[in-house]
Amino acid sequence: MTRRIDIVEVGPRDGLQNDPANLTTEQKLEFIARLEEAGVRRMESGSFVSPKAVPKMADSAAVFAGVDRSRPTRHIALALNEKGVRRAIDAKADEINFVLVASETFGMRNQGMTPQDSADMLAQCAPLVLEAGIPLSATISVAFGDPYDGEVDIKVVGNLAAQAQRAGVGELALGDTIGVADPWDVRKRIDRVRMEAPDVFLRMHFHDTRGAALANVATAVECGVDVIDASCGGIGGCPFAPAATGNVATEDVVYMLERGGFETGLDLGKLIETAHWLEKVLDHPIASSLSKAGRFPA
Ligand code: COA
Ligand code: ZN
Repeated sequence: MTRRIDIVEVGPRDGLQNDPANLTTEQKLEFIARLEEAGVRRMESGSFVSPKAVPKMADSAAVFAGVDRSRPTRHIALALNEKGVRRAIDAKADEINFVLVASETFGMRNQGMTPQDSADMLAQCAPLVLEAGIPLSATISVAFGDPYDGEVDIKVVGNLAAQAQRAGVGELALGDTIGVADPWDVRKRIDRVRMEAPDVFLRMHFHDTRGAALANVATAVECGVDVIDASCGGIGGCPFAPAATGNVATEDVVYMLERGGFETGLDLGKLIETAHWLEKVLDHPIASSLSKAGRFPA
């Protein structure tokens, strides 16, 4: 049997939150619809954070109200505090993804929290999500390195994973927010998290800032991880991380995995078309390789 790898499309959230372009709600909904046409079934469609902190996500409630609910897609909302969780529940998010942070300075700048504050906030918010019957996932951001503090202790990552499991998180992503991971460290941190939080499903979230993202995806898959975050066109970045660039591109991940004999359920041709559409709407070049080189065999 062919092994299936599920891609969580994060373009509409991680991708757009830091892009210089200002898409209208209508354009975001068109982006989402195009991704659904390409076969995307799980997608971060917006975040419920302070509109002052991230103005590009200020219309997330309108985006969630506008998505076509007759489609099978699960729309994931990102939240970092109780207010965000309540707004995400009101918006009828199909899943809520909480953000834990593995390092102090990035944590304070991104969300005004230390790593332990973020774990405490998760413990406070998780019952709200679970009582609403909504699947709860979490991402440990800067799990491989912090743009201000440098190296991130693997013990902190393991400890946050254990607390996430205790809070009732079903799926946990290790986030390389600033693109500093290497395949060997990916393996070490996956092993550590599996030891500390054996009951959570693992997902990986890589940015391609230093060119290692596809290698990191390949290693995660070799380690048995079945769920990978990616953004169409490779757009994205974090407003609170200097020099952070885009997520690994969905079409590049799909190409690599399908060449390798895995199944993703995504239509590579439609993803490339969407990346080209995105390039026009954003009005700047995008990073993905497949959108330039095209598929092989043609
Ligand atoms: N949604 C909308 N507004 C929110 C909010 C939320 N989830 N949480 C807080 N606010 C508002 C408060 O109502 C308050 O508004 P006011 O100034 O008009 O009274 C203001 O933000 C400050 O609230 P406070 O609880 O003190 O939050 P904070 O200033 O400590 O900020 C966060 C905490 C998490 C809300 C903020 O840092 C944030 O939104 N960060 C976004 C990080 C992000 O999205 N990064 C990229 C993805 S990881
Ligand atoms: Zn990210």
